Amino acid sequence: MIQLIKQKFTALYGVQPTMVVRAPGRINLIGEHTDYNNGFVLPAAINKAIYIAVSKREDTEIHLYSMDFNASFVADLTALFPIQSWPTYILGVADQFNKKGYSIGGFNLVMYGDVPIGAGLSSSAAVECSVAYALNELFQLSIEKIDLVKLAQKAEHEFAGVNCGIMDQFASMFGQANQVVRLDCRSLEYEYFPFSMQEVSIVLLDTCVKHSLASSEYNNRRLQCEAGVAAIQTKYPAVNSLRDATVDMLNETVDASSDVYKKCLYVIQEIARVQQACKDLQQHQLDAFGQKMFATHQGLSELYEVSCAELDFLVNAVKENPEVLGARMMGGGFGGCTINLVKKDAVEALISKVSVQYEKAFHTSLKSYIVSIEDGVSLAL
Ligand code: GLA
Repeated sequence: MIQLIKQKFTALYGVQPTMVVRAPGRINLIGEHTDYNNGFVLPAAINKAIYIAVSKREDTEIHLYSMDFNASFVADLTALFPIQSWPTYILGVADQFNKKGYSIGGFNLVMYGDVPIGAGLSSSAAVECSVAYALNELFQLSIEKIDLVKLAQKAEHEFAGVNCGIMDQFASMFGQANQVVRLDCRSLEYEYFPFSMQEVSIVLLDTCVKHSLASSEYNNRRLQCEAGVAAIQTKYPAVNSLRDATVDMLNETVDASSDVYKKCLYVIQEIARVQQACKDLQQHQLDAFGQKMFATHQGLSELYEVSCAELDFLVNAVKENPEVLGARMMGGGFGGCTINLVKKDAVEALISKVSVQYEKAFHTSLKSYIVSIEDGVSLAL
């Protein structure tokens, strides 16, 4: 991959790239839709990544080439705006550097990757993080990693129109091999937990669907959570986010038959569940951990309502299987992957069985990925 990207870069721009940066996609073990509610998440960076090769230019132009799309794009640093296509994530990051007053010049870039797009593995965050990291290095700006994370997140808000939380960019930037990281999205304190894959594999089953509701419904959920917080604040003014709220507070202030109630109930329960799940992990109770993943899925499907028929099907298909410790939909929802903790010996048989069932039910082929947990963003050259 690195060799190919270097060759392409030299062929296109007539110079060697100054550096190649690798930024991985992410999985999330538990803690879904909790990041923008100031709760906890438990993600990890994976062995699927975006690679970018870059070099400075003498002018203010940005020259981009995507090997995945076989497409190029040219923009100017002095006139950046969002577009409905792959360059937007790169332009969005450059725009944030501008807005924050960091002095950057034009650059050439070639991008290549193997993070499946639309599968819920945060390929967009990986692109943003690779660019943020590369520009920081290329123009020697000495920006802290956590500030690069925030900048990448802001790029997603402003240039992709998704009001995402901080999890994806954080995981891509701060991931460590063989560890999951528990991030407190309120204080931004984080702790790594070893995740052994001696006996279990992390298997992603990709529905290969992405329902069009994904980004509008995502932004909607945020608004519903904010509405819940506003209602709770009428009686409990110190509550700033659902992280500070309890189910009792919710019961007192929000009509239990309302939609907002259901959404907030899920979030409050999920924030508590992540805490418990981390204890399970510390005590090597993977069975108990897996049960919580199933509980998360139920909450996401029935209360938070971000699942879909394909995701529910995949979770139900493995639920009674004793070789599967836990499974749930992962990421924003409305498509993408389920994440499954599967006993090593049973992985292949499970994938073949579920693939047949899935194809029969939806006339779509299932994809699967067995992932390993790897380091976050780094220089690859
Ligand atoms: C998307 C967002 C994240 C997070 C998840 C749901 O991946 O980018 O910030 O909110 O959905 O947990």
